[in-house]
Amino acid sequence: MNVHDSERMHGLLLAAGLQPVGSAREADVVVVNTCSVREKAEQKLDSELGKLRRLKKQRAGRPVLVLAGCVAQQRGAAALRRMPFIDVVLGPDHLGELPALALAADGGAPAEVRTTFDLDRPAFLALTSEQAAPSAFVSISKGCDERCSFCIVPSTRGPERHRPSAEIIAEVRALVQLGAFEVVLLGQTVNGYRDPSGVLPSEPNDGTGFAMLLRGIAEQVPELRRLRYTSPHPRWYGPAVADAHRDLEVLCHHVHMPVQSGSDRVLKRMIRRYDSAEFLEIARGLRSARSDLTISTDIIVGFPGETDEDFEQTLSIMREARFFGVYAFKYSPRPGTPALRFGDDVPEEVKSERLARVFELSEALQAEHLTSLVGTNQLVLVQEQGPRGDGRLCGHTIRNEIVHLEDSKELGLRAGIVPVRITRAWKHSLEAALLGAPAATRAGGGPVRLPVVTGSDG
Ligand code: 5AD
Repeated sequence: MNVHDSERMHGLLLAAGLQPVGSAREADVVVVNTCSVREKAEQKLDSELGKLRRLKKQRAGRPVLVLAGCVAQQRGAAALRRMPFIDVVLGPDHLGELPALALAADGGAPAEVRTTFDLDRPAFLALTSEQAAPSAFVSISKGCDERCSFCIVPSTRGPERHRPSAEIIAEVRALVQLGAFEVVLLGQTVNGYRDPSGVLPSEPNDGTGFAMLLRGIAEQVPELRRLRYTSPHPRWYGPAVADAHRDLEVLCHHVHMPVQSGSDRVLKRMIRRYDSAEFLEIARGLRSARSDLTISTDIIVGFPGETDEDFEQTLSIMREARFFGVYAFKYSPRPGTPALRFGDDVPEEVKSERLARVFELSEALQAEHLTSLVGTNQLVLVQEQGPRGDGRLCGHTIRNEIVHLEDSKELGLRAGIVPVRITRAWKHSLEAALLGAPAATRAGGGPVRLPVVTGSDG
């Protein structure tokens, strides 16, 4: 979500005539996009802001500094009182005003704070780029009506609002025309989507509206090669969503479905509104629709009151659901959340030990899965240079396994969907050799231009 917001802000600033530069030292405007889901991200932010304060002192007030996103929303005007060197505080619903406010601040206008929610006429950031990333994001809803007791998002992103289906489909089509092979639909509880324009049916209220949107995109944008979504809530996985996975070729064989805990007692205190049996039933339903579907997840360890036995149940649901990819976090108390009343009673060493055990098991499950793919042929959506900086490319399969390409220099750094043979399994990724010619490459064959992204996770 934050990566998408950063990309769109980048596009807005380009459209307003600004050019990217290499560092804050050369910049006229710096936008710090922020995440407040866990305390660590906020601590990192404060140290970044400290650096920018020193820079502004050296450069006689430059660059203009915009604090954007969830921390901006959460701190509001207090951010300016505490950090008067900030020029603009921009909550998530005001990102579209970025160019005007940044340019006004550059011209000497006083500091501005924008943190109301656009409840009556929700706006979604318009597409401004001239070229889409090979895998591009599209927001279908914003805000969140769930009340998970650990989560700060409902207060930083406001109540849930959905985007009209025609607007979503038009944006998917535009992105494909601009070179996207894959589109990732975004929402805090993405599968709770209901079309506010009523064009697509949303009844019964169990993921049917979302499934209709998936079908609408598949039918109306047949050139789209891959469709993904994140993050769903298990609560909105009615049979219509599994049916869409069975029927739609374009829909990726992967879901990221946060379980948070394997203990029913903890799930109840987290106000997740499902139990472990229901979660496993959804996983079974999805896998009976697509037998090779992979499921990744989010897990919180050390939630208040989590006992050794509760934690063992988390490890056991990891094995039973055969998660491929686990994002695990230590519980972090967040301001204004209902879980604060439980205290934070799991000692830090216990949280660390539990986190290490989750990672250990997750690596073992991942290794087993990746090894089983060695020797198979796969189609890989190539989209970026690999981490080694040797010109080799990297991409992902329809199940979201990461694949590094052995002979990728031959591709001339182009994005595309290419057939490969998996030659080796690493700890978290695969190695593969190209098989023949690319199955599809970007129209015009231009080089991959990756958007510049600032900010933290979330
Ligand atoms: N502490 C730790 N992890 C959290 N998450 C959300 N809130 C907290 C918190 N207070 C995690 C959840 C969520 C992911 C985006 O961040 O696992 O799915």
